[in-house]
Amino acid sequence: MSQYHIAVIVGSLRKDSFNRRLADAIVKLAPPEFSFMQVIIGDLPLYNQDDDETQAESVKRLKKDIESAQGLLFVTPEYNRSIPGVLKNAIDHASRPFGQNSWAGKPAGVLGASVGVMGTAMAQQHLRNILAFLGIPTLGQPEAYIHVTDDLFDEDGNIGEASRQFMQNWMDVYVAWVKRHAA
Ligand SMILES: Cc1cc2nc3c(=O)[nH]c(=O)nc-3n(C[C@H](O)[C@H](O)[C@H](O)COP(=O)(O)O)c2cc1C
Repeated sequence: MSQYHIAVIVGSLRKDSFNRRLADAIVKLAPPEFSFMQVIIGDLPLYNQDDDETQAESVKRLKKDIESAQGLLFVTPEYNRSIPGVLKNAIDHASRPFGQNSWAGKPAGVLGASVGVMGTAMAQQHLRNILAFLGIPTLGQPEAYIHVTDDLFDEDGNIGEASRQFMQNWMDVYVAWVKRHAA
């Protein structure tokens, strides 16, 4: 029986997204008391403060999904040395209206995969800045800057052998972090 329900926010809308594949694969390394659900951010309108009092149904759904979770897992690409606009849009939506920040206090982990060797390091740094402002206690170590290589995943979509020990350790530390900080 799952005690810890985790909202997973993937920062790519791409059909064959490496980051979505990473999110799908890493959750298999979690213990049975953890369950994960990828939240939908692709149907959110562009954030407009005028709409704060009349939020779209998709925004209300996002806020509910975040509020009902005990923890957060961000898995994002790097776009032009920062986070993708779709991710920032989703973060902004769920942070509002003023005083109703759905993210506050939810323990989080940050992962990112890139075809570039720096493995989303700069995007993650920008994301951490945003998460700190929103009052999200975010796991600091180990950092996980994932370079997408041919052996990152095996044929069944699991984390490949070469990265498995690293990713298992990351998940173990993340699990302990969520347990320590979940309300
Ligand atoms: C608009 C755009 C900007 C990008 N900028 C970066 C970048 O700054 N750093 C990087 O490592 N890769 C960059 N990339 C390449 C992405 O790492 C690559 O497209 C990756 O597959 C995106 O993640 P996804 O597979 O989860 O969609 C960029 C890609 C796009 C489309």
